Amino acid sequence: MEGSKEVFNDCILEARHIVKDFENSSGKGMHRVLDDISFSVRRREFLSVIGPSGCGKSTLIRIAAGLETATSGEFLLDGKVVRGTGAERGMVFQKYSLFPWLSVKQNVMFGLESTGRGGDEAEEVAEQWLEIVGLEKYGEFFPKQLSGGMQQRVAIARALAPQPRVLLMDEPFGALDAQTRTQMQRYLLEVWKNIDITIIFVTHDLDEAVFLSDRILTLQANPGKIKELVDVPIPRPRNKESLSLREFNETRKHIEELIRPPKVNEVVEEDFKIVNMVGMQP
Ligand SMILES: Nc1ncnc2c1ncn2[C@@H]1O[C@H](COP(=O)(O)OP(=O)(O)OP(=O)(O)O)[C@@H](O)[C@H]1O
Ligand SMILES: [Mg+2]
Repeated sequence: MEGSKEVFNDCILEARHIVKDFENSSGKGMHRVLDDISFSVRRREFLSVIGPSGCGKSTLIRIAAGLETATSGEFLLDGKVVRGTGAERGMVFQKYSLFPWLSVKQNVMFGLESTGRGGDEAEEVAEQWLEIVGLEKYGEFFPKQLSGGMQQRVAIARALAPQPRVLLMDEPFGALDAQTRTQMQRYLLEVWKNIDITIIFVTHDLDEAVFLSDRILTLQANPGKIKELVDVPIPRPRNKESLSLREFNETRKHIEELIRPPKVNEVVEEDFKIVNMVGMQP
């Protein structure tokens, strides 16, 4: 059993049979958004979650963060059931979630203070993080004085400053222009490479998922279910050349097929079968 123990030790976060039902907008009845989602994430892994709009990506990551509760099932961190939010899980959202009335440095210090590290120590750690994200000169600025990419770097610094075990990112670069987005992807890989952090990264963007990830969890919608957990066989470090590798294009194509919506004629064919079957009933 040596081998299975090793796998167990290697796993940092585990989703076990997560189910989530939400109330219908009419207020009558419930609908299932996530249906029996189970997977595990390895320590220091970069795992992306991709799938059509509404398949429950944000809901899943919000349950992992403790911002939402599962109807049934659970997340385990280091083998222990996760309850509520916690400093071991940092979160970065799509929309810049910095406090506009706090300076950049105070924003980074905010996360530290909530873990009981205040005063000079928090200030020192915040300054170190601002240096890591290349914003050491902007500590006294306010968020609105920074570009979108810079604000997301502050959000990443704020999430990482309390040294979480896992960083949960929900389309963190979704609001950025293409060029800034590419820069942020490379920059995130640089930070990830140098620290002991495991990343779960929700995205809509196929190229982004393939470029960044070790594995990609593909989901289908209505209800959200796992289609496939895909390995990305592209060597690291990754750079511009990675994008033209055969493996890149093959993985991209495979994921695209997994998450593409059914074509109209496929839906019609499906309906036709049902009509035929009904027609065949005595
Ligand atoms: N608080 C809520 N109450 C009721 N329904 C909700 C709630 N939050 C999400 N939903 C529903 O759950 C489903 C999944 O939503 P979710 O935001 O997780 O999808 P998503 O995959 O992140 O979509 P997108 O790619 O557009 O961000 C949607 O049908 C949504 O309307
Ligand atoms: Mg979402």
